[in-house]
Amino acid sequence: MSLFEASAYALPHIARLDPYIPGQQLQGPGWVKLNTNENPYPPSPRAVEAMRDALGKDGSSLARYPDPTSRTLREAIAVHHGLVADQVIVGNGSDDVMTLLIRTFCGPQDIVGMTVPSYTLYPVLAGIQNTKLVEVLFERSVSLDPKKIIHSGAKLFFLTSPNAPTGVAFEKEAIVEVLESFPGILVLDEAYAPFAQEDSVDLLSRFPRLLIVRTFSKAYGLAGLRVGYGLGEASLLHLVDRVRECYNVDAIAQAGARAAIEDKAYTDARVQKIIQTRDAFAKTLESWGWFTYPSSANFIFTEPRTASGEAGSAIARALFDYLLDHKILVRYFDSTPLTCSFLRISIGSREAMEVVTQTLQSWKQNVQLK
Ligand SMILES: Cc1ncc(COP(=O)(O)O)c(C=O)c1O
Repeated sequence: MSLFEASAYALPHIARLDPYIPGQQLQGPGWVKLNTNENPYPPSPRAVEAMRDALGKDGSSLARYPDPTSRTLREAIAVHHGLVADQVIVGNGSDDVMTLLIRTFCGPQDIVGMTVPSYTLYPVLAGIQNTKLVEVLFERSVSLDPKKIIHSGAKLFFLTSPNAPTGVAFEKEAIVEVLESFPGILVLDEAYAPFAQEDSVDLLSRFPRLLIVRTFSKAYGLAGLRVGYGLGEASLLHLVDRVRECYNVDAIAQAGARAAIEDKAYTDARVQKIIQTRDAFAKTLESWGWFTYPSSANFIFTEPRTASGEAGSAIARALFDYLLDHKILVRYFDSTPLTCSFLRISIGSREAMEVVTQTLQSWKQNVQLK
């Protein structure tokens, strides 16, 4: 056994840090993978073509560094949202953008806020930065109480809307109420906004302390490309830009993301298809008496119930295992009382959701808890 104590060399708060645990990325044939809210459809063919062009015939264009400012991509994103390029920062996925935000604005003397449940990366980012963390707990209704954020004491608060893992989109009025009185920076994580009725981009012109974070991983079907972006007040983003690794988005990613956001018709059509599949699936679950949050995202959060009406954490876990045995991968969050009796199921293709529905039905008929 080695006597080398690696952790003695780490910063103490890093040695204590619990890392983020992403959903499993199982490979191999036969899996129905509905655990990380990926898009079941390929990205825009124009994006694929742009990436091939960026690679060039013999790959020699990769001998050069990419544009360190991602200028044309930022301009395309700005046009898409009716903003200017200075109001856009891009990153290696929206996780990178959120890392930049917390690194720019928060240190050990600051408080970072989040709701529980929400995206489990936020506490890890706070942990890396060694900030204090304040959690605003949702009741089962998952309704947003602006006062709890306003008085949280946070310098930077992560609010996910539509919320993950419930899929619930918060009322615009509640978000405005937060922005009117919260003295810190509100980071609105809109990873799933393209699947919702509305977003909050129009609020940027009224509230300089609002930063919105978006991703190409969900609506655009480009999770593997790793591109996300932040929208907000140019003077705030100029500060964030100081922290950014200067080549944080590679040449192929810049070209692919730009073509994808310019092909609005393609993305809109795929998003509509996912919304229709989602709503039909949610209706089926509700017809079985499974409580399911109204989803504005590309996943649903449902509380499984046996044929005899039992629900709870043992039931949810049993169903998770049953689905796994049937090569269907979904997400189970046992860490909070509000989530432990639910499963989060990403919306796949219509065919995949048929398979899931049939498997859930057979579970209901056969379930016997150990
Ligand atoms: C709420 C939320 N924000 C951000 C992300 C990360 O997105 P990206 O792939 O752009 O890093 C996810 C991924 O699942 C998410 O659920």
